[in-house]
Amino acid sequence: MPQARVFVTRRLPTELQRLQEIANVEVWMGREPPPYEVLLAKVREIDGLLCLLTDKIDRQLIEIGTSLKVISQMAVGYDNIDVPAATARQIPVGHTPGVLTDATADLTWALLMAAARRVVEGDRFTRAGEWRTWEPDLLLGPNVTSATLGIVGFGRIGQAIARRAKGFNMRILYTSRHRCDPELEQSLGVEFVKFESLLQESDFVTIHTPLSDDTYHLFGEPQFALMKPSAILINTARGAIVDSDALYQALSSGEIAGAAIDVTEPEPIPIDSPLLTLDNLIITPHIGSASRQTREKMANMAIDNLIAGLKGERLPYCVNPEVYDVVSG
Ligand code: DGY
Repeated sequence: MPQARVFVTRRLPTELQRLQEIANVEVWMGREPPPYEVLLAKVREIDGLLCLLTDKIDRQLIEIGTSLKVISQMAVGYDNIDVPAATARQIPVGHTPGVLTDATADLTWALLMAAARRVVEGDRFTRAGEWRTWEPDLLLGPNVTSATLGIVGFGRIGQAIARRAKGFNMRILYTSRHRCDPELEQSLGVEFVKFESLLQESDFVTIHTPLSDDTYHLFGEPQFALMKPSAILINTARGAIVDSDALYQALSSGEIAGAAIDVTEPEPIPIDSPLLTLDNLIITPHIGSASRQTREKMANMAIDNLIAGLKGERLPYCVNPEVYDVVSG
């Protein structure tokens, strides 16, 4: 039987041996993603695709991949993949939930603390030789302890943020499509509120919702207008949940006090973006899950999904399990 053919769109932080035992594996060695034309050419010849969030896996690509049996993404988010198109072709799509929850929550917390206590500004200030003496009002920021935190989206990562906030004795508000059960609310010490109330009452607002048609530009001018002038926004989810122009206006006019974002629209952020001129904004390059252990686990989960798909078995972490529904009649 001919070996399955697989294309992996970047070098992975783990061994590929167990994949190579069952498949002919080609790895894209570039530091940057393969161009769309390369993906289009590859997908015609492969049975399995292991991709990243930087690869646009759209309907055209999925329809051209007539031998494609599985798409496995090394990320929990999959807004770059046209899942309905894959489902229509009975192609299971895998992702990597759970293993990156704590790493992402840790980075979120680092950004929240850094923005509140002006860590990045302080570093720039020191390196610029501006530190002359201890000053009573130098680089003041708000308290984190006992402040009010608003969590938008209350899945695994939102809940992991609540656990961290509890240790800081914060009042924790959350909003989500579904209210979680009262025992969980009680154990995490969280209050369910409407999105608008969360914006009005929070000192820190942190975004943990997937990108979808419903959440695209969820934060725009009207939402910033509702927030406190002292509020700080954190986004480690997806850049397009926040309207960048509105964020620039809100930060530069003082409508909100600061922001710290790990994701932008587009990625990477263009070097001439006005956002990069702002001192009250921290930007990191989409490194929420970037701990060594986490990235290795993500890569292995993506390989598990890929191998299962190649063998015709159910993916352990499938975003479209309906492909397994037996059509009767
Ligand atoms: C994801 O997994 O969706 C993150 O954005 C990258 O780890």
